[in-house]
Order: sequence, then C-alpha cells, then structure tokens
Amino acid sequence: MITIEKTSQSRLQELDLNKLPFGKVFSDHMLVCKFDGTKWEQPVIKPYGTIEVSPGMQVFHYGQAIFEGMKAFRTDDGRVLLFRPERNHLRFNKSAERMCMPSISEEIFVDGLKELIHTDLKWVPSEGGSSLYIRPFMVSSGELISAQPAQEYTFMIISAPALAYYRGIIKVKVEEQYSRSAAGGTGYAKAAGNYAGAFYPTKLAQEEGYTQLIWTDAATHSFVEESGTMNILFRIGDKLVTPPTSERILDGITRDSLITLAKDMGIEVEERRVYISEIMEAAKNGELKEAFGAGTAVTVGQIGEIGFRGERTAIPTPEDGYAMKLKKALQDIQYGRAEDKFGWTVEIK
Ligand SMILES: Cc1ncc(COP(=O)(O)O)c(C=O)c1O
Repeated sequence: MITIEKTSQSRLQELDLNKLPFGKVFSDHMLVCKFDGTKWEQPVIKPYGTIEVSPGMQVFHYGQAIFEGMKAFRTDDGRVLLFRPERNHLRFNKSAERMCMPSISEEIFVDGLKELIHTDLKWVPSEGGSSLYIRPFMVSSGELISAQPAQEYTFMIISAPALAYYRGIIKVKVEEQYSRSAAGGTGYAKAAGNYAGAFYPTKLAQEEGYTQLIWTDAATHSFVEESGTMNILFRIGDKLVTPPTSERILDGITRDSLITLAKDMGIEVEERRVYISEIMEAAKNGELKEAFGAGTAVTVGQIGEIGFRGERTAIPTPEDGYAMKLKKALQDIQYGRAEDKFGWTVEIK
C-alpha cells in the first residue's frame, strides 16, 4: 500500500513542457521510502520539495549512493509507456548489493514507480522525441560518521520532463591514463561515485575538444569498454561488434535491446573483446563503417571522430546505417508505433 498526498497546487500550468532545460524542473510529486535498519517502511508519494537532512548523514561522508535512469514515453494516441522497468529494478538491486545497501522489492520499486508516474501523468510530454526522465535512487541516511555501512537508508523517485535529446555527432577520445572502473571494482554498479570519478578525465578531454571518452580496460588500456555513460557498438564490415558486459561495465538496457533488435533484423552480432588497435586499423582501411554509443538519455549517439594518441580519425555517420535503423526500431517500440514483440513496454493506467 502506497500513501498518496497530492499537491494542492500543480506547477504544470506555469511551465511550457516543450521548452525545458534537461534535469532542472521536476514534476509535482516524488516517492519516498525509508529503511529503518530491518525493513522498508510504507512508501509515500508526496509533493516534490526539499528535504531536511543532518550533516552527519552517512552518504555525505562515505558515499553509499546508487541510482537508476529510465524514461516514460507518450504514444501518439496519448498512452504512457515505461520501457523494461523490471531490468532497472534488477540492476538497482545489483548495485545495492555491491554497495552494501538493502535490496528493494518489486512492489516498492516497480509498483511505486507506476503509481508515481500515474500521479504525474500529465507531466509526460507529447512533443516528438520527448519523454519523462525518471530517477530512482537510494542513499544511506543514518546519522553516524564512522566508516561502515549505514543502518538506515532512503529510497526516492523523482522525475523530470526531457525534450528530444540530440547531442549531435559525438567526438570521443580514447582514454589511456584514467579509468572509471577496474577488475574487482564497482563498474557494473550504478554507484554515484563512479560518475564523480569520471568527471575529471572527461573534463580534460572536453578541453581538447572532445565530447567524451572511450574508457579502456584499467589493466592494459588496450581494449574498449564503454564510452562516457553509454555502452559502445561498432559496425565492422557488416557485423555489429560490442564488448561483452563484465564486472567493469554497466549492463545497459539500451545495449541489450539494440542487440536483440539487430539480431532480429538479421544482423550478425559479436560480443567479444574489442582492441582499440583493431578499431583504429579498421577505421584506416575503411572496414569501420560506424561507431555509436547506446544509453537511455541519448538512445543512440553516432560517433563521428575517435582521437587516439593525439591523432583524430573521422568515422562515417550514415543516415541510413545500423545506428539510425536500430534507433528508429527501438523508438518505434518505446513510442508504441511498432508491435512490441519482445514485451518490453508497460502501460501506465
Ligand atoms: C556507465 C554507463 N554505461 C552505460 C549506460 C547505458 O545504460 P542504459 O542503456 O541502461 O541507460 C549508462 C547509462 O545509464 C551508464 O551510466
């Protein structure tokens, strides 16, 4: 049972949903649920607003914080669809386990999410390519400055309308010094600290004119892992090649969906170790036909340039290649324009 306290004053009328900066304006309600040391209490949906916390709250000191990112889509006929929410729930609990936090039930995560979006249904924009970005997260909320896992935790879900996301063609730099994850580390978890640690090397690359990084393995920096906050795929000849997920890589839901769609289209997909030397070689001899990132925010982001050891190599970004075909196929399902033959969408009623 979820308690719902509705706002008496929606902020919706004051806003033009089709002209919002991403991630700054939040919808009317949020879900809050507390873990008291032994069990999750009853979730509450209440008006979005600030929360008062103690400076001794453990997350500020030891960083037990995890999150998810997902979207709700409005179809042409006005329905609202979630995309594979059970995968986000599973991944959230994997992240929780790695960060020594309590797992959360489907009733709280998935049903809470549905109830929250149902409460803020009007916040799901209808303009082409837009969506409601949903951010479930959990932090340690006990009051204790001792380096140990907390007893108390707070799980929350907030959401923010997002316009169609077009970042343009991405320029990536192959990172050979810094790492976002290593064997035995937390790379597969959506832990907040992974992102904080990535900001500095990303900033350095941006100062050189790149959009983001290609992360290579921490031990040898010789094979490709991810690109920024996206999984990465290459078209070499007619094959789609992508690194397998591992303890160092986030198991992206977009990546998994694109692989399924590609196979369904008859495209040969290889999940295997991808050496950066092989990619640069393929780029030079014309075998590398496309490179692209995959993630919830961007869906598919075409890579038009790879920088490796100071040399910048252009990569084709065809309008009718694998990247754009797969993006369209995925979005057609997300926006309810194509048959959902894999059972990925969940309608909010
Ligand atoms: C590090 C990292 N890799 C990959 C992804 C893509 O995952 P998904 O497709 O589930 O959004 C994300 C973004 O969520 C990410 O943060």
